[in-house]
Amino acid sequence: MREKTLNILQAAQKRGYAVGAFNVTNLETIQAVVEGANRLKSPCIIQATNKTMVYLGDKILGEMVNLVIENNSDKKTPIGFHLDHGASLDEVIRAIDLGMDSVMIDASRKNFQENLRITQQVVAYAHKRGVAVQAELGNVPYLGREEQNINWEEFMTDPEEAKQLVEESGVDALAVGIGNAHGFFRERELPDWDRLIKIKKLIPNIPLILHGASDWSAEKVSQAVDRGITCFNVDTDLRIAFITSLRDSLKDDYGLVDPRKVLSKAREKVQEKVQEKILMFARKK
Ligand code: G3H
Ligand code: 13P
Ligand code: ZN
Repeated sequence: MREKTLNILQAAQKRGYAVGAFNVTNLETIQAVVEGANRLKSPCIIQATNKTMVYLGDKILGEMVNLVIENNSDKKTPIGFHLDHGASLDEVIRAIDLGMDSVMIDASRKNFQENLRITQQVVAYAHKRGVAVQAELGNVPYLGREEQNINWEEFMTDPEEAKQLVEESGVDALAVGIGNAHGFFRERELPDWDRLIKIKKLIPNIPLILHGASDWSAEKVSQAVDRGITCFNVDTDLRIAFITSLRDSLKDDYGLVDPRKVLSKAREKVQEKVQEKILMFARKK
């Protein structure tokens, strides 16, 4: 069942659990996310970046997600459709045109005033069309394996600025930096829990999103939920499940030439990963 991403986030926030926002790249991963959510009768968010919009074509991505959700409507599992890491108003406009009900504007590498200005511009456009907006403050980095001596302070969300950004832009959700990073390799040893608590206290009604959650343990996830995280973004772990399955299927079997065989197995592996994550995120306090 199609549901607005913001309703999914607000329901989770109200009841004290968290949801997963899962990145998709093709039909198999879209189906895997929806089926994973179905099996657990749990809400979830399908999200895609501009790279996926370009890879599939905006219209095809929109039609595919809408059809898979529609096809599933008897299951009553609420599924949202969100733009991940929108880089400009132009990307946001395309995402809304293809049917996303929520968009992220990621101006987190800009200075505060510029981030605020761009976020305000996106909110003005999106809200007129009934679309919710997520901003990012601080920055969730993409770190390579080699990068050493990371100065995490550079990436942290300033709680007072978070309050100002929310109040002056009217944004609906906020991605925070508390020592989290994209990819699988690096995170700050311990998240800055005090910072998260402060942010939550200052903007209690705004769902807080934790990007880079693929490598978060159940223990860390549950501490984050206790301190106010409402949604965890997962991409890398799903990619690994998909690609590892393809590698395993293909490595010794040169006679295997039916794409459906390998893709259905990969889809199943992604679905299992989605279920594992949903269970982890939804764990009650
Ligand atoms: O943080 C977002 C994604 O992991 C990056 O994905 O390769 O689709 O831009 P992308
Ligand atoms: P991971 O790289 O940890 O999966 O994070 C994904 C993400 O934050 C997408 O926005
Ligand atoms: Zn992200």
